[in-house]
Amino acid sequence: MSQSQSQPEIDFDALFATAAAAQRRAYAPYSRFNVGAAILADDGVVYPGCNVENAAYPSGTCAEQGAISAMIAGGGRRIVAVLVIGDGEVLVTPCGACRQRIREFAASQTPVAIAGPGGIRQMFSLEELLPASFGPDNLRL
Ligand code: THU
Repeated sequence: MSQSQSQPEIDFDALFATAAAAQRRAYAPYSRFNVGAAILADDGVVYPGCNVENAAYPSGTCAEQGAISAMIAGGGRRIVAVLVIGDGEVLVTPCGACRQRIREFAASQTPVAIAGPGGIRQMFSLEELLPASFGPDNLRL
């Protein structure tokens, strides 16, 4: 499906399946904390991402970051929905830097679904995760 006028329908099951598969492929030998992400973009494609760590620790990248790179390289331009999956009791919400990265390509009401192995645990809007944010509009003087 290729759409630029109307928004593609959000299939959260497809987002979950893509993010869960990416989580299994994560490269996280240092933290042993595998994270997967999936982005539904305005082109109707679901783009995967996973964290990719590095022996030089700060050079590691987050799952959300990977999914955004895949989206841009693949031809998507806007985020319609995001799903992040991680393990453990505490919800794996995007880190601060990734909230800002999502902000660049999403709207305030864009859904960000947070999942665990059993499925979606909680839904947020981007605005809830990053209120009063700075974005591209701020640079239009
Ligand atoms: N991580 C992500 O990929 N996304 C998140 O939303 C939270 C944290 C990764 C970064 C690092 O590889 C590992 O999880 C532990 O922080």
